[in-house]
Amino acid sequence: MAVTDEKRLSAPDAVQNGPRHVAIIMDGNGRWAQRRGRPRLFGHHAGAKRVREVVEACPDLGVKYVTIFAFSTENWKRTQVEVAGLMSLFRRYITKEARALADEGVRVRFIGDRVRLDRKLVLLMDELEEMTSGNDRVHLTIALNYGSRDEVARATKRLAQDVAAGKLDPEKVDEETLPKYLDTCVLPDPDLVIRTSGEARISNFLLWQSAYAEYEFIETLWPDFTAAELARLVKDYGKRDRRFGAVKL
Ligand code: FPP
Repeated sequence: MAVTDEKRLSAPDAVQNGPRHVAIIMDGNGRWAQRRGRPRLFGHHAGAKRVREVVEACPDLGVKYVTIFAFSTENWKRTQVEVAGLMSLFRRYITKEARALADEGVRVRFIGDRVRLDRKLVLLMDELEEMTSGNDRVHLTIALNYGSRDEVARATKRLAQDVAAGKLDPEKVDEETLPKYLDTCVLPDPDLVIRTSGEARISNFLLWQSAYAEYEFIETLWPDFTAAELARLVKDYGKRDRRFGAVKL
């Protein structure tokens, strides 16, 4: 058993055969707010408050990596008020939470295309990545202006540039090659993908990386999601029989 696995299983509630990497599509903020007669941004603010509890629950459950979908490449199609509100929420979130995340041993990374994001936000993202770069208790990856197809297109462009520059032999390109160019190149693939709010779709999230992931589509709206619900899903995952296309003899 690898040292990292031993450490994982020594955590108090770590689940035997539990997921090492959980990815979450945090859906349902708008409906949560609507049901309370409040604007959609109220739901996003409530959703942001759930992130800390969920991340802090991970180490004890043996979850080393958690990746959350905060803003997709398609989310720019929302109203200008909602997009601006979300961008302001991300800036405030990073500013307010940075210290606590760093002190909790969380290593924060961002995936997605930063080109379209405002300069101030990108600077805050860079700072938080730098500030937490020595941490290893739990790895939080925030997908911001992220879309899987966009990520694969950007990766392919860089791969093609390396071929053109003579750094990569096209004959040697195989399924181990592309992941090295993806935004997630330093992360293991997700084992479990959770989507809240009752929708059963993937919405362009980690398509390549989740080829063998298990999926959980749950009714809970994201602002109501708790550490206890995460623990239940992690335990259920531990009972699943993952065969990766093989047959158990
Ligand atoms: C989907 O709910 C949610 C989003 C597009 C934004 C997710 C953002 C957060 C949870 C907030 C903050 C995150 C961080 C890291 C600060 P929806 O608006 O599509 O909900 P609906 O389907 O009910 O309309």
